[in-house]
Amino acid sequence: EPIRAGILGATGAVGQRFIQALADHPWFEITSLAASERSAGKKYKNAANWRLDEKLPDEVADMEIVSVDPTKVDADVVFSALPSSLAKTVEADFAKKGFAVASNASAYRMEKDVPLVVPEVNADHLGLIEVQQDNRGWDGYIITNPNCSTIMLVATLKPLMKFGIQNVNVATMQAISGAGYEGVASMAILDNVIPYIGSEEEKMETEPLKLLGEFNGSEIIDADFKLSAACNRVPVMDGHTETVWITMRDDPTPEQVRQAFLNFNPHLGDLPTEPDQVLIVRDEPDRPQPRLDRNMGNGMSISVGRIREGIRYVLMGHNTIRGAAGASVLNAELLHKQGKL
Ligand code: A2P
Repeated sequence: EPIRAGILGATGAVGQRFIQALADHPWFEITSLAASERSAGKKYKNAANWRLDEKLPDEVADMEIVSVDPTKVDADVVFSALPSSLAKTVEADFAKKGFAVASNASAYRMEKDVPLVVPEVNADHLGLIEVQQDNRGWDGYIITNPNCSTIMLVATLKPLMKFGIQNVNVATMQAISGAGYEGVASMAILDNVIPYIGSEEEKMETEPLKLLGEFNGSEIIDADFKLSAACNRVPVMDGHTETVWITMRDDPTPEQVRQAFLNFNPHLGDLPTEPDQVLIVRDEPDRPQPRLDRNMGNGMSISVGRIREGIRYVLMGHNTIRGAAGASVLNAELLHKQGKL
């Protein structure tokens, strides 16, 4: 019996990545596509401007889009790629009606009883689901994945926690697909850099502390270090690059940091979307680069390089796959593996 999956915001930049991730999925079957009233009632192929290189799957092309209404969506789990302003009410509506909601939106990430999870980093935080259901009296529940840039950053911080992280400074160079399809249309940012991306910096300075915190059975005790982020939009289609400076209590050498990255092999138990290697360490001085490295591990691996004294390094990952749709799907796979779906 496949698990029935709906996609909220199915026509957008992340929604399309959800379709790509779920179309040939061994466990999930796409049963509902939902978007705005502008799209509802239309066939997917007539409502969405399909932007991915791969062909739009036939079974999806002729599906009729419904509105984001729990009575219209037929599914066990819904993946949300909705704008955050809308996600606050819509995702709660679905959770109340008994749906499992795996959300890429930021609306619920920092709520105390909502799991914010990257499976390779803090799978045990899914234990908050029971806390949430007790608190809110919902039949269903919401789980979230972090902001795209945070996901890639915490995957590299996790193996460094043992050195006693004290301070993290990060500067991002973020692709335009992260701004949704309105952003892609603004490829007019060619020959430009924009030093402001909504509330991205704030997310990067708070979400990692929850993710790297300890779950004590009833709540998360945040990790205790300082983060400072500067986030920039650059004219790259897909793939976020981040330059990181970290100070650590144990003052590890670049080689010790490299070894910690190489030895970071969390085993989730053969989840379909799990990459063979979470972190790929590059020794060439001019890597990682988005155009060369973003599709590693089907877009789910994170490439790390330029590990230098300081400690300084550069990381890069696919923002709409590892940083968004793939992250939510991996979370749902983990839920299923733990018998929570
Ligand atoms: P639609 O295509 O019908 O506007 P992106 O992040 O690429 O801009 O995509 C946003 C997604 O959220 C799209 O699927 C869009 O659907 C959907 N969406 C935007 N506004 C609403 C709304 N008011 N109600 C439901 N879905 C919405």
